[in-house]
Parts: sequence; structure tokens; C-alpha cells
Amino acid sequence: MEMIYLSRKDVEALNMTMKDVLAAVDNGFRLKGLGKTEMPPKPGIHPRPNAFIHAMPAYVQEVESAGLKWVSGYPSNSNKGLPYITGLLVLNDPDTGIPLAVMDCAWITAMRTGASVGVAAKYLARPDSRTAGILGCGVQARTSLMALVETLPRLKEVCCCDAFPAATRRFIDEMGKLFSKLQFIACAKPADMMQDADVVVTAIPIVVKPSPPLEAGMLKAGGLAISLDYDAAWTSAAMKECDKFCCDDVGQLLATREHGVYFGGIPKKIYADLGELAAGKKKGRANDRERIFAMNMGIAVDDMVTAKVIYERAVNTGAGVRLPL
Ligand SMILES: NC(=O)c1ccc[n+]([C@@H]2O[C@H](COP(=O)([O-])OP(=O)(O)OC[C@H]3O[C@@H](n4cnc5c(N)ncnc54)[C@H](O)[C@@H]3O)[C@@H](O)[C@H]2O)c1
Repeated sequence: MEMIYLSRKDVEALNMTMKDVLAAVDNGFRLKGLGKTEMPPKPGIHPRPNAFIHAMPAYVQEVESAGLKWVSGYPSNSNKGLPYITGLLVLNDPDTGIPLAVMDCAWITAMRTGASVGVAAKYLARPDSRTAGILGCGVQARTSLMALVETLPRLKEVCCCDAFPAATRRFIDEMGKLFSKLQFIACAKPADMMQDADVVVTAIPIVVKPSPPLEAGMLKAGGLAISLDYDAAWTSAAMKECDKFCCDDVGQLLATREHGVYFGGIPKKIYADLGELAAGKKKGRANDRERIFAMNMGIAVDDMVTAKVIYERAVNTGAGVRLPL
């Protein structure tokens, strides 16, 4: 028996576009909404303050993808010139359980996280959204913008803010080359970024005791807030001010809250998760005035549907290294 090992370079070279990942992730949410996935809430260990290593298993029917992502997030890595998110993903044969592949998961995580932003925007943003606000101009912010460009055809302007102005400048340089028709505005303060934003994505480090910079009254009527950073960026009052509070998985949200560290300030009523919206079980945005919040924690279904496409491409092209089990 042998399996395929795919390094980050191998994964990237398989040329899955954001459009491909969006299609896979939207379908994954649809199957989740139809009850065709198995995904227990992710357990984690926390070897250093504010750091996590999470185990994220899922099985997705129809796509026939089964596996586990073992992913870490270390805010202190940036001081060492290392990435915040690193990890591996194991894909198994659903018929036999035998491991088919082990692959780097940093690219997959970034792309499927961006795609989850695109899916939230598809169901919850005003379709005429023109301005995006981005807080935290790092890896996830880049793929989030890639997905917003695919989902919101009228997007014209991106207001960016990072604690480090140099990070904002790098983001604008890189993303400006990719999307030359967008206008980028560097904002010195989070409040400046919020002025006109129709869709706001936050991707700053998740910390145990946050001081959220985004407060009630900042998200404009008709706006959509998408949090990739738990409750690091938005105050409880800001989340509660929204007309609808959504997430990517209710079970995972409530299980995480039970540990008593995160999500203590979220609203009592969770309107829907993205699975219910993608499966058509609940309606997304109802009018142009609603303020909507999407808490996208990141779920294993997103990883497994993306990894399955990567695996099939590797089989077809001979990419990666074959290793004996
Ligand atoms: N929800 C998901 O699916 C998902 C997936 C992966 C990562 N994440 C989370 O997204 C966040 C960002 O991850 P990343 O890989 O993009 O990290 P990154 O290090 O590439 O980017 C984070 C950026 O935030 C900036 N920053 C730090 N503190 C800030 C503050 N207080 N205000 C403004 N900017 C600040 C940093 O300078 C950096 O540019 C992390 O919290 C990570 O855990 C979520």
C-alpha cells in the first residue's frame, strides 16, 4: 500500500482557482445543510498562550471525502518570521479507511477560508455591495478578497487596516497587482475603514482576552460583517446590534462557547448557519437595510471538499511523492 505526500508547493502547483474552491466549498455547505456530512466539533490543545493546535475531522457524502486536518495557529510566530497557520491534512479512503494522502494544509486553509467568506457574501451581502473593509491584512485577508471579487461583481473599493502600516502597504501592493480595477485605501484606524464598508472581513489574531476595536454603531445599515477571528474584532454590543447572527456551524460554535473562553458575548439567537442557507432551508438577506453578522470559525467540511479535488488532480497528474504505508 502507498499514499501520496503533497508539499505546499505541490498543492499550489495543482492550480485550483478561487472559483474552483468556491464551488467546492459552497457544495460542501449545501451537503452539510442537507445532513449529508459528519463533522464533530473540533477539539484542540493549547501549548502556548493564545496558540492552538486543532484536530478537524469530517466525512462528506456524495463528494466521498473523509479525513482530518491537524492545524496550528501561533500568533507569536510572526516575531520569528514564521506563518501564523501551519499544518497537515490526512485524506482517507471512505471504503477502507486506508490513508490516501498526506498534504500540507496552509494553502488549503487559506483558500477555503476565503471561500467561506465568498459563500457568506453570496447569501448575506447586498448584491450591489461596492466597498469592502478589511481588518488584518494577512494571509486570510488576501484569499477573502479573492473570494469577494468572485462573489460581488460590483465591488470597486477596498478599505484596509492593519496594526502595522507596512502590512497594509504590502497587502495593497500585492492585491493591487491581482485586481487592478479595484481602488485600495489604506486606513490608519479601524473606524476609518468602516465608514463606507458594505462588507467587512476581520482577520486579526484570535486572543483569549481581546480588546475589540469594532463597536456598535460602526457597521452601516445593510452591511455584512464576516469574522474569521472569533470575537477578537467585534464587541458584544456590535454583534448584538445585528438583525441576523449567522455562523458556519452552530454545533461547533456552541461547543466552543461551552469551554468558557470564546463567544461569551454573542447574541442568544443564531439565525442560521451557512449550510442551512446553501441548502435553501433558510432565507439569507431579506432586505437592503438588515445588518448581518457571519461568524465563520472555519469548518472541516470546507477542508475535506477542497482536499478531495487536490487529491484527484494529484492522482491524474502524478504530482507529489508516493510513499509506502
Ligand atoms: N475562520 C477561519 O476559517 C480561519 C482560518 C484560518 C485562520 N483564521 C484566523 O484568521 C486570523 C488571521 O490569520 P492569518 O493566517 O491571516 O494571519 P496573518 O498573521 O497572516 O495576518 C494577521 C494580520 O493581522 C494583523 N494584526 C495583528 N493584530 C492586529 C490588530 N489588533 N489590528 C489590526 N491588525 C492586526 C497582523 O499585522 C497581520 O497582518 C487568525 O486569527 C487566524 O486564527 C481563521
